[in-house]
Amino acid sequence: MIDLAPSILSADFAHLADQVERAAAGGGTVIHVDVMDGHFVPNITLGPPIVKSLRQFTRLQLDCHLMIENPDQYIAEFADAGADWISVHQEECRHLDRTLNLIKQHNCRAGVVINPATPVDTLVEVLEIVDHVLVMTVNPGFGGQKFIPATLHKMTRLAEIRAAKGYRYRIEVDGGVGLDTVAEVVRAGAEILVAGSAVFGKGDAKANAEALLAAARSASLQKV
Ligand code: DX5
Ligand code: ZN
Repeated sequence: MIDLAPSILSADFAHLADQVERAAAGGGTVIHVDVMDGHFVPNITLGPPIVKSLRQFTRLQLDCHLMIENPDQYIAEFADAGADWISVHQEECRHLDRTLNLIKQHNCRAGVVINPATPVDTLVEVLEIVDHVLVMTVNPGFGGQKFIPATLHKMTRLAEIRAAKGYRYRIEVDGGVGLDTVAEVVRAGAEILVAGSAVFGKGDAKANAEALLAAARSASLQKV
């Protein structure tokens, strides 16, 4: 099952409700919310008030990608604002098991994210408890960056580990996913496709989402 998760980072914030509605009409099933604090990444974006507003006008799952220092401190606030999924970076969490359990205690799905320079092996001890693993295919911080192909093997490896161990997590990909790269990420094993500029960058978000999903589904059918 493939999910398209449009990232509102590239949306027009003055027309957020309309943009999300268009992306959903095109088949987007999860709204990806990029939270940046200017410390963990060199950019500042948005926080719980936007999640709360989104919650009031969409029933889609809200997938909060926390690119912030000290995520534990904000998990309750994001959960209260209406987050369904909360993902934290392996690189930021000294007590990753504790943080993932904290997310679950707030009745959210718990995800772990790895940067391009972070190996899958750093996650082996938590893969049994996570609901999704997010593989960054760009260095986090900005939309519209170039996809890093050297990250593809991580999705394949995660799919292999899941099959071998009988785990249940889903594999998510984020960064530079567009019509030119979507087939290879799906073939590598990605099932939740985050896309910002490819959905909201130019043209109509509905048509863009439809085209991306069509390409993803045809790649998925070709998978052996
Ligand atoms: C980057 C963010 C991404 C971003 C992706 O740090 O995590 O979610 O919105 O943007 P595109 O799809 O334009 O690469
Ligand atoms: Zn993201």
